Amino acid sequence: MKKEYILSLDQGTTSSRAILFNHNGEIVEVAQKEFKQIYPKSGWVEHDAQEIWSTQLAVMTEAIAKAHVKLDSIKGIGITNQRETTIVWHRKTGKPIYNAIVWQDRRTADYCKSIAERGLDTLIQEKTGLLIDAYFSASKINWILDNVEGARRMAENGELAFGTVDSWLVYNLTNGEKHVTDVSNASRTLLLNINTLEWDQELLDIFDVPQSMLPQVASSSELYGHTSLEIGNVNIPIAGIAGDQQAALFGQLCTEEGMVKNTYGTGCFLLMNIGNKPVISKNKLVTTVAWKIGNDVKYALEGSIFIGGAVVQWLRDELGIIKKSSEVEALATSVSDSNGVYLVPAFSGLGAPHWNANARGTIVGLSRGSKDAHIARAALESIAYQTYDILKAMENDSTNKIQEVRVDGGATRNNFLMQFQADIVQTKVIRPAITETTAMGAAFLAGLAVGFWKDIDELKSLWKEDKTFSQSTDSSKNKELLREWKRATETAKFWANY
Ligand code: G3P
Repeated sequence: MKKEYILSLDQGTTSSRAILFNHNGEIVEVAQKEFKQIYPKSGWVEHDAQEIWSTQLAVMTEAIAKAHVKLDSIKGIGITNQRETTIVWHRKTGKPIYNAIVWQDRRTADYCKSIAERGLDTLIQEKTGLLIDAYFSASKINWILDNVEGARRMAENGELAFGTVDSWLVYNLTNGEKHVTDVSNASRTLLLNINTLEWDQELLDIFDVPQSMLPQVASSSELYGHTSLEIGNVNIPIAGIAGDQQAALFGQLCTEEGMVKNTYGTGCFLLMNIGNKPVISKNKLVTTVAWKIGNDVKYALEGSIFIGGAVVQWLRDELGIIKKSSEVEALATSVSDSNGVYLVPAFSGLGAPHWNANARGTIVGLSRGSKDAHIARAALESIAYQTYDILKAMENDSTNKIQEVRVDGGATRNNFLMQFQADIVQTKVIRPAITETTAMGAAFLAGLAVGFWKDIDELKSLWKEDKTFSQSTDSSKNKELLREWKRATETAKFWANY
């Protein structure tokens, strides 16, 4: 077989990575570089956009060099990225006029509240599938235009460009030639109408963003442009783009309606494929574009959990009851249950489906016999319970009965958590052999566009499972556990409102 590859660029919140895949969908080489997190004030989170680009270029060069592959054997580049993070740059110089404002940044929370108070939430949800929140890009663009000297005037003169990280990378990879984004990233800005898949003038007016700043909206799998010769002596096609959570859904081959993936990272991101029509959530989930391939558009319901794997870091760094994260499974399984202890890790409020910013971390059910192992177990169980809450909301919104959950991310190595997850949700939990599903999704999208892979059926043959966890407990026991969990979350919310 000819040695040909697809290069996936995975630009995440804490690091830039480049992963080279071969024709069998196997990883040939990986390179990774972390970059600076900038916290100018409480609640503010920024990245240096130039550093995002320089680390991404460096890992791309490193992976290619380590793998000893020729540039012309790379048939396409797929890009996947932290979503919503907002970059505004000057069209003439290509230089950002402010740091990238990261998705986690809360500086525009009051501004978003003022938009909601104008009674615009229903209109905005129907058009964008999203809630009015500082998380998404629109209010961040508005902040830059109002707070960087001369920015609004320059934007109105057409001198500025806005992009999410995918757009910024393509702009730099093509040496300023292309200003483009894909529908999945565009659907996280609060400016895209997800029914028409076009920027929406009414939304632009609400957030006071000039249309001239915006990138062209493209599909998730097509030829956007080529890498410039400044980067290497070959023009490599850039052919796939998707936001990281949507790319993971595609990398997990959740291509049929009703299929669900959960990525267990610092937080957890759950996405359900809901087919070709957007469904507006009645349970505080968001609706997002999953991808567009040719004329086929897929939508997804999404729910996020703020504290997932981070609860294990908390056990390690703050409570000190484990030294390494990998020790948590042994500690949690040294007892047969949590002995009535429930931990709600609402350290920074609760995400979907509660959306309660004021809720705080709560431990209930302590008794004289409670010990560290019970707390460790309750901490792991909380990840599974929070996942359950979102899956139920998804079932209610979509009427799809969940048959299985495909999982990825660091915490999926924890067999106890995966088994408990299967028991609580009463469904199969499937861990794939390659858990780099985000990067794989972007590689698949690029590979399809350049004919490296023929179609989705061929991709399905590349996806292999490592282990399936099936439900092993009876549902009456679960009902009791879930009732107690609900009481515990109510307590975390009550504490906030008291
Ligand atoms: O919406 C934010 C998400 O895309 C960030 O993902 O993996 O970079 O933390 P990650």
